[in-house]
Amino acid sequence: MSSNIRPENMQRITNFELANAFIDEQIKEIRAQVGDKKVLLALSGGVDSSVVAALLIKAIGKQLVCVHVNHGLMRKGESEQVIEVFGKELDANLIYIDATDRFLNLLQGVSDPEQKRKIIGGEFINVFDEEAAKLEGISFLAQGTIYPDILESHGVKAHHNVGGLPEDMEMELVEPVKLLFKDEVRVVGEALGLPHAMVYRQPFPGPGLGVRCLGAITRDRLQALREADAILREEFDNCGLAEKVWQYFIAIPDMTAVGVIDGKRLDGWCAIIRAVNTTDAMTATIEEIPYNILHKITARITSEVKGISRVLMDITPKPVGTIEWE
Ligand code: XMP
Repeated sequence: MSSNIRPENMQRITNFELANAFIDEQIKEIRAQVGDKKVLLALSGGVDSSVVAALLIKAIGKQLVCVHVNHGLMRKGESEQVIEVFGKELDANLIYIDATDRFLNLLQGVSDPEQKRKIIGGEFINVFDEEAAKLEGISFLAQGTIYPDILESHGVKAHHNVGGLPEDMEMELVEPVKLLFKDEVRVVGEALGLPHAMVYRQPFPGPGLGVRCLGAITRDRLQALREADAILREEFDNCGLAEKVWQYFIAIPDMTAVGVIDGKRLDGWCAIIRAVNTTDAMTATIEEIPYNILHKITARITSEVKGISRVLMDITPKPVGTIEWE
């Protein structure tokens, strides 16, 4: 347990110089731990696993095998970015698995949120396990554990950890950023040359768009959600809100409202905008988005996304509303 406690005298990593010193030290430690053996990493494209991947690529190159499972619930362009950055730019040993059909088939008709989370978490382990079984000579499993994960693993966020990895995998762990806080991981990520947008990405739940396509997921509503969410993100990037707001997204309930498009009545879905600020996700306040920006987002979503007839704004702080809708 004592190895899990961050030493009080450990210097906080606040600039490139300190980040580079951390990177050099970790490279030595990783090489000493791993030797000439292979390491497996589930690369989600999130901040923590991306930084661990970049660090390990620098330390041991092709001895690292990254597996990216696309569960079909990623945001627009995310899996593509993982392939671009890690597969192409960093020339990583990357295995990309498009498991969209497997996940969406299992989720068909399932409306209970906890059941949905269980299916997504369970299937993730199945897919990852199957891939791991095909690989030979893997001795280590790398993980993007960060210090708050260790602090909170018995706390309130435990119910979120459905996307964990198989417990019976008999591999020694490599966890190079486990003593760092999130902001330190980000500084290290930038020092490693990862794109700013990847390193400063807003939090995204493991079950992804699955918990924002409310109720039983259908492919057409999921597609509308992905497009609407991409428009929201693009407009937040354009007006500077992306740098300011902690988490922002669209949720689409399983219901329709009538609208008129090109003179015809259309039963369309409602896209709900949620934009919150928080420090620890335990409580959250609402970002007051200027109306001109809301008008622009609404106009774009209703004209560019097939099937959406209305845009709504969720102005409920946490408590009482949780950040996600389910
Ligand atoms: P709530 O909805 O509980 O969300 O206010 C607090 C934070 O946790 C994220 N969240 C999840 N993250 N798996 C995750 O990895 C989940 O099932 C999950 N549910 C919520 C949420 O996005 C917010 O940042």
